[in-house]
Amino acid sequence: MINLKGKVAVITGSSRGIGKSIAVELAKQGAYIVLNGRNQSRLESAKLELGKIHNNIVSYCCDVSDINQANELIKTAIQHFGKLDILINNVGISMRGDVADLNPEVFKTVFESNVLGSVYPTVPALKELRKTKGSVVFISSLAGIRGLPFLSAYSSSKMALRGITESIRIEEKKHNIHVGLVLVGITQIEHNKETISSDGSKKVLKKRDSSKVDSTEKVAKKVLKNIQKRKFITTLTPIGKLNKFLQARFPLLVEKIILGNLDKFQEKSE
Ligand SMILES: NC(=O)c1ccc[n+]([C@@H]2O[C@H](COP(=O)([O-])OP(=O)(O)OC[C@H]3O[C@@H](n4cnc5c(N)ncnc54)[C@H](OP(=O)(O)O)[C@@H]3O)[C@@H](O)[C@H]2O)c1
Repeated sequence: MINLKGKVAVITGSSRGIGKSIAVELAKQGAYIVLNGRNQSRLESAKLELGKIHNNIVSYCCDVSDINQANELIKTAIQHFGKLDILINNVGISMRGDVADLNPEVFKTVFESNVLGSVYPTVPALKELRKTKGSVVFISSLAGIRGLPFLSAYSSSKMALRGITESIRIEEKKHNIHVGLVLVGITQIEHNKETISSDGSKKVLKKRDSSKVDSTEKVAKKVLKNIQKRKFITTLTPIGKLNKFLQARFPLLVEKIILGNLDKFQEKSE
């Protein structure tokens, strides 16, 4: 297993939620951290929290779906720590609604955040990761295994991450860069986490019953394992593993199962 002490990690969208937990777990292992988010005050409180673990914590407030800002984020890591060992593309937003009712702008917003917001930091990071034989990890979802009802833009954006991961793995093999993909299941969410409704408006998600969902700490520990073992795909939760197995072999059976449970998907999308 790779020792994370002294490794320099940029985690996009790490001012709260899963991204912050990944940053905390990495910091506990002695990694130097570059935190990121768009809201300055949220970012500062995350930095204060991580500062209790050690002092090598830097934050850079920016929107990673903007090319220039994403470039600056990677530059910040190099300016402060002189190298980059790990990039975790964690930023992502979800949506809800039938395609027929969808304001097409929803697709644009979701792809800008989830796909371009992952590609823009990755491009400048790869040249730095070649020097350290480092890791780039994409945070996907069980919704990225197949297209799910009422989640078309979200599912397809996460499926795009699979394609990007596969391409980079082959391209960077000769440079010994580890490229990982983590398929996350339903996880605890922070108060006031938003999704996008069919009409494009923001909607606050309902609180989740904590006994039925993964904690952000548990997800973060799996992400660290993916990096330390230089794994390709990490699929979380038993239902995720079953879904992946069945989808690869019996996609029409999976479709049938989903059709038989459509009310549950509908309920989850409210
Ligand atoms: N939670 C789940 O159940 C679940 C399940 C499967 C997969 N996932 C995936 O896990 C990842 C994290 O989810 P989460 O639930 O932890 O999300 P979250 O609580 O909404 O946190 C998202 C983080 O990203 C930042 N952010 C959002 N857009 C950004 C942008 N364009 N540029 C820079 N920072 C940005 C947010 O801060 P600001 O708003 O201040 O920018 C925040 O720090 C996502 O990729 C999501 O798809 C989550």
